[in-house]
Amino acid sequence: MGYVGLTSAACLAHLGHRVTGVDIDADKVALLSRGKVPIAEPDLDELVTERLADGCLAFTTDLSELASAELVLLCVPTPVAFDGTADLRAFDAAVETLSDVLRHDCVVVIKSTVPVGTTERTAHTLGRAAVSNPEFLREGHAAYDFLHPDRIVIGATEDEAADRVAALYDEISAPVLRTDPASSELGKYASNAFLALKVSYVNVLAELCERLGADIVDVAESMRLDPRIGSAFLSPGPGWGGSCLPKDTRALLRTAGQAGVDFAVLAGAMAANRRQHERVVEKVREAVTGSPNGSLHGLRLGLLGLAFKAGTDDVRESPALAVATLLAEAGAVLTGYDPGVNRTTDMRPVHVVDDPTLVAKDAAGLVLLTEWPEFRTLDWAQLAELTEHPTIVDTRNLLDTETVTRAGFAYHRLGR
Ligand code: UGA
Repeated sequence: MGYVGLTSAACLAHLGHRVTGVDIDADKVALLSRGKVPIAEPDLDELVTERLADGCLAFTTDLSELASAELVLLCVPTPVAFDGTADLRAFDAAVETLSDVLRHDCVVVIKSTVPVGTTERTAHTLGRAAVSNPEFLREGHAAYDFLHPDRIVIGATEDEAADRVAALYDEISAPVLRTDPASSELGKYASNAFLALKVSYVNVLAELCERLGADIVDVAESMRLDPRIGSAFLSPGPGWGGSCLPKDTRALLRTAGQAGVDFAVLAGAMAANRRQHERVVEKVREAVTGSPNGSLHGLRLGLLGLAFKAGTDDVRESPALAVATLLAEAGAVLTGYDPGVNRTTDMRPVHVVDDPTLVAKDAAGLVLLTEWPEFRTLDWAQLAELTEHPTIVDTRNLLDTETVTRAGFAYHRLGR
């Protein structure tokens, strides 16, 4: 019952199925059974409360409940080490617990992002049909994306099992793509890695724009108008992060290497992402000290935004934290504010506060790292007064230039 499992459970119940959400975490199950949703996802509270009330949804730690299931969706986490190796311990443990419980015609559906070959291996272990059916949910839009998907991908070797998975989504209007399990598994990695590649591409272009006196907004717009390129994922930032893109790119690069395929273009996108964190630090150094070699030692810097993107409280592999770590290594003292992140969260080296004015107070400069829309309408004049040297590096090109400069800030952006 993590992001994927809980969203799938609530949305499938919403579509008219009877769903039991199973988790080994008794506290979480108790919370969910009272209608309390432990993650910040729009509409999820409402869906859970409504479906609990009409009996279509229930939560339990009792695995024997699975005995009556027609389908079981595996949504356990599959973390990936720095070298790209997937840690399948939780996944394998879940598979093992299923082996004695399931009824003979139950289809096992794999929603977790798993290395290519895992679906077939699972079918073999359990001696029954297993189907790959990856999720493509964006954090912060998970329930919406589940109910309005771009595509539903079903990777199966048996038509009957694939039909039963497809029937789960009968009420949803979206293209259904049927594939073999390996293509379905690989398609998930390929999609996330391609998104990462796009963002790295635009981040490097932003640096080039600065050197050549071009504007990344116009360059990206010129690209966007070509439908073959597409309009999304062309905004520069402090690097891509989150719980999916970094881990899926690492895993795909390793998979390619193991298969003897040189995926240099992906390795390049990953290197560009690490370089992007350093580039932000270089920009901050120059903006705050006035010199590319200036020392940040002992300087107080205020960070606006800690989450890996706006609309979520998630700080896993957040570029904001990668940048903060480098700034701290350079000796800066960091205070951070994020509308989604509680000040009790341990985010060392950042001291988290619950008010943007506390971030600005006596700071040598500000760094905006997450594109929360509410940052646009902060009281910039007040923040300028509080800041020791009103300088801001806006890594998301979010703010209105006139508002910030009129308030007295020296305003630095990416690629403009
Ligand atoms: C991503 C994919 O977008 C989903 O399709 C996928 O289902 C999900 O991973 C997953 O595998 O479960 P998510 O992790 O929520 O979703 O994050 P994204 O919205 O993709 O953003 C990833 C990172 O790229 C963020 O740090 C974001 O700020 C950055 N980004 C995105 C940019 O810097 N510029 C852009 O133009 C777009």
